[in-house]
Amino acid sequence: MSVYQATASAPVNIAVIKYWGKRDTKLILPTNSSLSVTLDQDHLRSTTTSRADPAFTQDTLWLNGKIDEIKAGGRLETCIREMKRLRKEIIEDKDASAPKANQVDLRSLQLSEYKVHIASYNNFPTAAGLASSASGFAALVSSLAQLYSLVPPLVSPSTLSLIARQGSGSACRSLYGGFVAWEQGVRPDGSDSLAIEVAPQAHWPEMHALICVVSDTKKGTSSTSGMQRTVETSTLLQHRIKEVVPARMAAITTAIQQRDFDTFARITMADSNSFHAVCLDTEPPIFYLNDVSRAIISVVVEYNRLSVERGEGYKAAYTYDAGPNAVIYALEKDIKEIIQLVLAYFPQTAGEFKDVLGVFGGSVQDVNVHAKIPEGFNDKVASKWEVGSVKGLIHTKVGDGPRALAPEEALLNADGIPK
Ligand code: DP6
Repeated sequence: MSVYQATASAPVNIAVIKYWGKRDTKLILPTNSSLSVTLDQDHLRSTTTSRADPAFTQDTLWLNGKIDEIKAGGRLETCIREMKRLRKEIIEDKDASAPKANQVDLRSLQLSEYKVHIASYNNFPTAAGLASSASGFAALVSSLAQLYSLVPPLVSPSTLSLIARQGSGSACRSLYGGFVAWEQGVRPDGSDSLAIEVAPQAHWPEMHALICVVSDTKKGTSSTSGMQRTVETSTLLQHRIKEVVPARMAAITTAIQQRDFDTFARITMADSNSFHAVCLDTEPPIFYLNDVSRAIISVVVEYNRLSVERGEGYKAAYTYDAGPNAVIYALEKDIKEIIQLVLAYFPQTAGEFKDVLGVFGGSVQDVNVHAKIPEGFNDKVASKWEVGSVKGLIHTKVGDGPRALAPEEALLNADGIPK
């Protein structure tokens, strides 16, 4: 008996122009366009296997091995339903009108009528506090797209991004690698609110990222509820939406096209600051940064001051999402110096998150021996923090879009249950 199954992986993306605010909460239509860098799946990814089978009795999803309820009218249900609708509309209805004799390939089947089993897995530790909804929904949509043969040239990643967007707004940007814009669109039905590729990974492969995982004990405000409060109460958001973001979208697009890191860095940091400013302007105010986050900002600011003094322009760009973790974008040539500097202020627990050791030749000794403050750096800008304040460092870089994986990589066993 044939098994109708496909496995895909999808990347994390970190915005440099932030999405914050919806004009339609059901369709997930944003109040402003945004732009992100897709990170390398070799370090952070979600993997999803989807199977359609006439014997299945209901759509079921397992996340990291545990059943995740598919609520009626919820985001998961919407994505699965929309993928089935797309399959029916552009493949099954068309094939029915022109039936081919003895067709045995997947396209001849009414797969959209079968229930699906879906298993999804994130390779990054949940304890790291990294958002997984973007890569998760992108992997879900990508695996269903392969299962249903909704692939280029028939269906573009931009078309799939319309569906991933309805799972989580930022997920639409994980349908492409490289540098990706989510155009806010103007239509009420959301049909023009989609992701486009600004530049592929190969355009600027020297773009690296250092994720500083900051310890956080308290449960923060979720993006979904936080941004709605901002829309309802912040007057500053209106200025951000109308004036600030449109100008920055244009300017950072040009900076990326010209591989102008100095401009890229200035805009990235300004937009992170603007996003956290509208959070503070929310009633009641929302705080995502903590003292460690702010200390990282001080270190990056001083590092850039020194770089400008050396005539080299800005060399590091911090950005923060709805939590205290810092992502520092930098070019490959400078990443070692930046990791050494971060280690000098935020020593690591020996033996954890070893992947930053790569820049030091891969030795397995305690990473803290590499701590170093550059000559001319004013070391008074921050105090040295205790071990564990930054509980992990992940060194990664710009990456590619969703990948189709081989059958051996499937997360479901022969019975359609997670392995
Ligand atoms: C701060 O995409 O998680 O990371 O659409 O409600 O699921 P929902 O929100 P989500 O918000 C992400 C907000 C952000 C900025 C960004 O990624 O652009």
